[in-house]
Amino acid sequence: MRHLLGIDELDAGQIGAFLTRAQEYSDALKSGSWNTERLKNKVILHLFFENSTRTLTSFEIAAKRLGADVVNWNPETSSLAKGENFIDTVDTLVSMKPDGIVMRHSEYGAPKFVASRAGCPVINGGDSWREHPTQALLDALTMRQHFGKIEGLKVTIVGDIAHSRVASSNMQLLTKMGAQVSVVAPKVLMPESLPFKEIKAYDSLEDGLPGADVVMTLRLQKERMDKALISDAAYFNEFGLTFEKLEKLCPQAMIMEPGPLVRGVQMEDSVAEDPQRSLILRQVANGIPTRMAVLDMLVGDVA
Ligand code: CP
Repeated sequence: MRHLLGIDELDAGQIGAFLTRAQEYSDALKSGSWNTERLKNKVILHLFFENSTRTLTSFEIAAKRLGADVVNWNPETSSLAKGENFIDTVDTLVSMKPDGIVMRHSEYGAPKFVASRAGCPVINGGDSWREHPTQALLDALTMRQHFGKIEGLKVTIVGDIAHSRVASSNMQLLTKMGAQVSVVAPKVLMPESLPFKEIKAYDSLEDGLPGADVVMTLRLQKERMDKALISDAAYFNEFGLTFEKLEKLCPQAMIMEPGPLVRGVQMEDSVAEDPQRSLILRQVANGIPTRMAVLDMLVGDVA
């Protein structure tokens, strides 16, 4: 494997290998002992054409924990602002020969395009509504740490399934790893087709939540909608997670959310902050060992 462009290109064995290495880094970060020179003399170029807090920062910390140098290219201060086009910008940057590229772009397949021109591994940090593979890996690591397994888990993803790359990558990864995945969304936010026939689709929490071990909520991806498809208030009323609904429909379920969380729309504060239910900050923390694993396995020299 040269690049990490999407979960669609991985089989269960390859996903398992990433998760195993991520768990090793998770343990190593706790004990304070890992190879801090694994990526010494490597330069990682971050090409983020879209905003990010978690992905960009955790990739940078992960690279630095492994001894790499990181260059954060910024579209707003780049020559794109002077009229240089995307292809010339990419060709310019790859000709500087970074050892790895982590990129995010609003266009479907942009990382694959860059991978076709780069002489180094390209890691997808999110493209359009297509894929966000490292988010799905860190979510899976979080589930495996909490439940001790992924196979057989009942995971219900609630929210804007149609526009979410997190939903896309998670549906694929979790199904490939043997979880039972359901999705819940208003009809206007449900895609016409789902990646696997085993995935069940519902249009109400009352139908989709019972039996769930994990409820993962997603924000409304308004930047990918031509016009508002549902108001925040209407969404919260029908699909927002409240303490009361969870107690009634799936009292055992753990709550996950990839971020950014939009409070008061996806869930009420008491759910997000419930230490018994919420795995949200654990997900964020797991971004570091997961991305260390990905960088190690793709950019690190073969031992
Ligand atoms: N989950 C996620 O991708 O968050 P950021 O947009 O902050 O990177």
